[in-house]
Amino acid sequence: MEKSNGLRVILFPFPLQGCINPMIQLAKILHSRGFSITVIHTRFNAPKASNHPLFTFLEIPDGLSETEKRTNNTKLLITLLNRNCESPFRDCLTKLLQPLDSETGDEKQRISCLIDDSGWMFAQPLAQSLKLPRLVLNTYQVSFFRNHFVLPKLRREMYLPLQDSEQEDRVQEFWPLLKKDVSRILDVETELLDPFLDKVLKMTKASSGLIFMSCEELDQDSLSQAREDFEIPIFAIGPSHSHFPASSSSLSTPDETCIPWLDKQEDKSVIYVSLGSIVTISESELMEIVWGLRNSDQPFLLVVRVGSVRGTEWIETIPEEIMERLNEKGKIVKWAPQQDVLKHRAIGGFLTHNGWSSTVESVCEAVPMICLPFRWDQWLNARFVSDVWMVGIHLEGRVERNEIERAIRRLMLETEGEAIRERIQLLKEKVGRSFEQNGSANQSLQNLIDHISFI
Ligand code: UDX
Repeated sequence: MEKSNGLRVILFPFPLQGCINPMIQLAKILHSRGFSITVIHTRFNAPKASNHPLFTFLEIPDGLSETEKRTNNTKLLITLLNRNCESPFRDCLTKLLQPLDSETGDEKQRISCLIDDSGWMFAQPLAQSLKLPRLVLNTYQVSFFRNHFVLPKLRREMYLPLQDSEQEDRVQEFWPLLKKDVSRILDVETELLDPFLDKVLKMTKASSGLIFMSCEELDQDSLSQAREDFEIPIFAIGPSHSHFPASSSSLSTPDETCIPWLDKQEDKSVIYVSLGSIVTISESELMEIVWGLRNSDQPFLLVVRVGSVRGTEWIETIPEEIMERLNEKGKIVKWAPQQDVLKHRAIGGFLTHNGWSSTVESVCEAVPMICLPFRWDQWLNARFVSDVWMVGIHLEGRVERNEIERAIRRLMLETEGEAIRERIQLLKEKVGRSFEQNGSANQSLQNLIDHISFI
C-alpha cells in the first residue's frame, strides 16, 4: 500500500455477489493507492469483514424477513432494500460525516466521497443533502447500462409477441441485441423495474462520476457515447479482478478440491459450468445440462449452488445410478474458486450464464465460452461474446442435452473451436494491454484517483 493520503472513501455495495465482488476489488485498489476505506453494508449478504482487516465495516439493518431473504426475485429485492435501507443508511452516513470522533473528540479523516451501486435509488439525493460527492459504480457492461433505459419504451412499443420472421432482427436502439433477446428480457419480473429506470438515469447524471469495470478495448464505442449521454466524468478502470482476485469477497465458501481434481485432467480438456450467483433452474433443466455434459464425453466441472435448482435443496434428485455415470467424467461442487479454475491449464471451455464478471474473467484467461444467458444484461453480454467478439457459441436459450453436447463438441473438438480459441487469445492480449503503463484502464484509474482526491 502507498502511504496514507489522509482521505477516506465510503463504499456501499448492493448486497448481491455480482455487485459485492467489484466493490471490494475497488476498495482494494483505492486502499493500495493510499485511501482509507469504510464499507457500509446490509446485514443480508454481509461481506466477510475478517477477510479485509484493513477496512472498516459498518452494518446497517435491512428489515428483510427470512422469506424475503430467500427470494430469487432480484427486482423485488431491489424494491424492498431501497424501501428499508434509506433511513439506517442516512443515520450511518450522517454520523460518519461528523468532523470529530464522538468518543475521543479527535478530528476525523476527511471523507472524499461515497461510491455506491446504481441500484441504490436514494443515495444521490441523500449524498447531495449532506454535501458529499457521490460516484456510481456500475457492474454491467457499458453498453447495457447506457441502453437499458430504453427498455420501458421497447415494452410500450409491444415487442411481444414476435412474429417468427422478426426474431433474428437486430434492435437498433439496443445493438447488438436481437428482437428475440429483448422479448426475453422484457418479462413480467423486469416490468417491476420500469419505474426505477428513469430515476436511476437522473440520479446517475446528477452524480460526480461513473465507474465501470470495463475498458476501451472491450467497450470503446459505448464509452464515447456514454460520455456524451451522461456528461459526467466516466472511468473505465478495467476488469476488476485483474487488479486483485475476488475470492476473498465470495459469500459462499469455494470448494478447493476442484484444483487437485483439475490437476489430474489433460490440458484444455475440461468444460467448466457455472450459472453465477442469481440464476435458478428447474430440475429438468439440470438434467438436460448434466446429460449434455456426460454425453459430450469431455471431463466437466459443474457448479450447482445450494438452492439454485428450484424445489430441491441441491442435487439430491439425481438418481444414484446417473450420479455414478456423471462421476466417471465429472465433478459437481456447490461453489468453485472460479478465477483459479479459469486460470487452470486443464480448462478448455466455459458454459456460462454470461454475468458480466464471469464474461470478463473468461476473456482475461482466454477461455472460450458456450453462452447460456437467463436474464437481464446476460443476454447482451452473450451477444457480444457470440456475435461481436466471436469468442463463443450461443445456445440461443435451448437448455437441451443434444444442443449442449453438440456445442461442447464444436468448441472442444472441431476446427470452429480452434478459430474461437485464437480469437479469444487475441482479445485477452488486447485487454491485457489496457493495464500497461499507457494503457486505457491504467490511465482511467489514475484519472479516478486524481478526481476523488481533489473533488
Ligand atoms: C449478477 C447478474 O447475474 C449479472 O448478469 C450482472 O452482470 C451482475 O450481477 P452474477 O450472477 O453473480 O451477477 O454473475 P457474475 O457477474 O458473473 O458474477 C459472479 C461472480 O461470482 C464472479 O466474480 C465469479 O468469479 C464468482 N463465482 C461464481 C465464484 O467465485 N464461484 C462460482 O462457483 C461461481
